[in-house]
Amino acid sequence: MTPQFISFEGGEGAGKSTQIALLSAWLEQQKVDHIITREPGGSAGAELIRDLLVKGATDRWEPMTEALLMTASRTEHIHRTILPALAAGKWVLCDRFFDSTIAYQGAARGLGMDSMRQLQTLAFGDVAPHITFFLNIPVVEGLMRARGREGDKQLENTREDRFERMDTSFHEALHDGFVRLTEQEPERIKMINASKSISDIQADIRGYFHQILNNADG
Ligand code: TMP
Repeated sequence: MTPQFISFEGGEGAGKSTQIALLSAWLEQQKVDHIITREPGGSAGAELIRDLLVKGATDRWEPMTEALLMTASRTEHIHRTILPALAAGKWVLCDRFFDSTIAYQGAARGLGMDSMRQLQTLAFGDVAPHITFFLNIPVVEGLMRARGREGDKQLENTREDRFERMDTSFHEALHDGFVRLTEQEPERIKMINASKSISDIQADIRGYFHQILNNADG
């Protein structure tokens, strides 16, 4: 079976990590060897870069600096974690990948979706997920979930909520970006209604697995 590279995308509070954990438990039952990883991060160097990106003031970085840091961390992640895992026959479940740079930095931060695609190609060629699940949730609903989750349990300066704190117009543009990506690449990107219950969302994701397992066999 060809190991599959599967990414999960969405705005803030879409519930990606819960769905990834459930899918991982199911894949384990199916005896599909896999890893779970995330972006920004997923390798030692990429996690160091993550720390610069997800904490602190919303205006901490120029948009292009942010895009370059995201892409630098991804390049490390690809070469140190993703490609070695696939080469070892393991499937990869990845919490965010390059669609996040296209939507967050390209659409929401205004750098342009096409420029961000070009930047990805320059950095690491044509490495891409076999399939991507876009967990789609209305902006306000997602932000409410994300803000509730952060709570006040962590000290202000250690919270990973730098993007969450951006204004509503940022999050609306981000959502539009993800919807446009889904329209541009319907074969790869599957839109999932993430307003449903956790178990219904998981059932919708697993519904694609006949196709995915067939692809992996072929
Ligand atoms: P997380 O909250 O899903 O762990 O992701 C960290 C934050 O980084 C999230 O707010 C989205 C943002 N992000 C980007 O802006 N561009 C990217 O390319 C990636 C991977 C994440």
